[in-house]
Amino acid sequence: MGKVSMWFGGVFYALIVWGGGVVNGENVMFFIFGDEVNDVGTNNYIISSKEFQANYYPYGIETSCGSTGRLCDGLLIPDYIAEFANLPFIPPYLEPNANFSYGANFASGGSGALRETNDEEVLSLRTQVGQFILLQEKLRRELGNSKAKKLIAEAVYFISVGINDYKAFVNQYEARTQIYDAKEYVELVTSNLTAEIQVLYDNGAKKFLVALPKDLGCTPGMRQLAEGDCYKLATNITELHNEIMEKILTAQATKLEDFNYIIFNQMEFVAPRIQDPTKYDRRWDTCGGKLNAESYELCINRSAYVYFDAYHVSQGINKQAAIALWEGNDSSVKPLALKEFFNREVSVSHVSHERKRKAKIAAIVEHASS
Ligand SMILES: *[C@@H]1O[C@H](CO)[C@@H](O)[C@H](O)[C@H]1NC(C)=O
Ligand SMILES: *[C@@H]1O[C@H](CO)[C@@H](O)[C@H](O)[C@H]1NC(C)=O
Ligand SMILES: *[C@@H]1O[C@H](CO)[C@@H](O)[C@H](O)[C@H]1NC(C)=O
Ligand SMILES: *[C@@H]1O[C@H](CO)[C@@H](O)[C@H](O)[C@H]1NC(C)=O
Ligand SMILES: *[C@@H]1O[C@H](CO)[C@@H](O)[C@H](O)[C@H]1NC(C)=O
Repeated sequence: MGKVSMWFGGVFYALIVWGGGVVNGENVMFFIFGDEVNDVGTNNYIISSKEFQANYYPYGIETSCGSTGRLCDGLLIPDYIAEFANLPFIPPYLEPNANFSYGANFASGGSGALRETNDEEVLSLRTQVGQFILLQEKLRRELGNSKAKKLIAEAVYFISVGINDYKAFVNQYEARTQIYDAKEYVELVTSNLTAEIQVLYDNGAKKFLVALPKDLGCTPGMRQLAEGDCYKLATNITELHNEIMEKILTAQATKLEDFNYIIFNQMEFVAPRIQDPTKYDRRWDTCGGKLNAESYELCINRSAYVYFDAYHVSQGINKQAAIALWEGNDSSVKPLALKEFFNREVSVSHVSHERKRKAKIAAIVEHASS
């Protein structure tokens, strides 16, 4: 059992992060990063406020697991992916005594690609990638370099990040636009994300599943700011983010050896499903807990609605999304079906030597956003 000490929110504290050994037979490992789309309980283990946690009713109401920290009425996309890949649910990296034989989940609800996004409350993508590096070193020590390298190369890396950076931009518009205009801000977020993907790649990762944000402006929470309409600025910046990230990932795949990616465009996935008239009437009401709400109406048929609370979708949508991802049969998923990553149909041949490319992130982003 190991101890890791870290600075968090200006407070120094120690966490026990390693319980189980790493024994892995044939399974492809699954590492998960980013925000509330992927957080299965990380924020339960850090000093965070209720706003960034979901370990209370009615979160989790649809599952026998109860309120686990998932910002949803039930399960999240990584849970369904694990099920389809014949893996157990992948535990939070911070869960004491968790078994990381099949992977670890570093995602922290509320986090962003920028370190300053909700930095007192959550673990940024930078911190999460740092935790992965510690775990990966442990894996190398336990399994030996060549076995560990192979597992790391064959593993799938799922990142969902960005929406909280943009929420912060909209909510702190006056302050943030003193420093950046919207386009510069999107370039900053995309370059930070690209830099973190590069760090994972430099550490041996080769199969990336990148979930691009939903349309922030059309979330029930943002619609409240625009009297029911989509909040245009928020829509614009998430749209621009998604365009730039798609160009960057496409370009990286041609430049970096064995760099494989799947894009899941949540904006494209969620939008047509909200327009279904039977689900549309709750576009700004919510089906369950509304963050910080004193009262709310819990609807009977939650999985028939897109949103469970002001920003977070229901288990029903998460399951549909995971199926679409796995099968690759929706226009929001490209260029591959996720099952090809897990079934090893994507070859990662160069596992025997380190590749350390000096990333010129600024140039990559400038090119993609021009
Ligand atoms: C972790 O899980 C693996 C696979 O199920 C198992 O072989 C191993 O014994 C477990 N480790 C611990 C410490 O429980
Ligand atoms: C990441 O964002 C920070 C601001 O949070 C900025 O200072 C830094 O230059 C960015 N890094 C990259 C690689 O863009
Ligand atoms: C959103 O983008 C459109 C077209 O790109 C532009 O005309 C409009 O002014 C933008 N609106 C806001 C609020 O940023
Ligand atoms: C709940 O939603 C499902 C899926 O849309 C639908 O088939 C079912 O009839 C609904 N049940 C009720 C009680 O509204
Ligand atoms: C995608 O494939 C799944 C599983 O075969 C199927 O249930 C689903 O209807 C398909 N979706 C589309 C849009 O074809």
